[in-house]
Amino acid sequence: KEFIYLDEVDSTNTYVKQNQQHLESSTVVYAERQTQGRGRLSRRWVDLEKGIKMSILLKLLLLDLEKIVPLTLFTGLVINRVLRKYGVNSFIKWSNDIYLNGKKVCGILCELSGEVEGFGSIIIGIGINVNAKSIPDEIKDIATSLKAETSQDFDRTRLIIDILKEFEKEFPNFETYGFSHFRDEYKNFCINLGKEILVNGQKMLCMDIGENGELVCEKDGKIVEISSGEVTIRF
Ligand code: BTN
Repeated sequence: KEFIYLDEVDSTNTYVKQNQQHLESSTVVYAERQTQGRGRLSRRWVDLEKGIKMSILLKLLLLDLEKIVPLTLFTGLVINRVLRKYGVNSFIKWSNDIYLNGKKVCGILCELSGEVEGFGSIIIGIGINVNAKSIPDEIKDIATSLKAETSQDFDRTRLIIDILKEFEKEFPNFETYGFSHFRDEYKNFCINLGKEILVNGQKMLCMDIGENGELVCEKDGKIVEISSGEVTIRF
């Protein structure tokens, strides 16, 4: 497997997108600094020092590409599992944010890109706030770092290896059985369940996580299934 280390780049996702023809499936691109880190819903990913910013390139059969939504959930679950092995009391906020003490420590941005001879590319971008001591004012109410919450320093190399190993170990199960294989574990750590949430501005009650990872909610006595969007939890 190839691992590309960059001191600085605009965005590891953009880098992978631009260079994908020359990169093998499973290549990981890591950057120490991102000048234009991107988040979901066209937002920015604020670059904190001593974090993990990396993208995994997967070249998959086009037939498999419908798995992109469950794949992002799967990635979040893998990271949550690894953090928990380190003793971190993390949770998953649907669809794929990792929370610690009510604030976000990790975000995932999956992008579909290009098609060559029946294969498409999925770029899984992972941003984890690891050893940053202080959080910039603009995001400090909603974001945190592992260090800020636990007062511990984390070995980033170890963490990256553990995440990639766990991903590699479980990916065959994901390919064979889909998200449903991981659904119980996901539900166990999902903070949306049973809560009143706002989905794209509409108030709903979160009832369940479906077989393919969709959010099952109740609104005005009706069941609504949500597969993407902006979800806010009212703590
Ligand atoms: C989100 O929570 O909105 C997703 C954030 C994803 C951030 C990561 S950092 C590495 C990769 N490169 C990017 O530009 N974004 C992702």
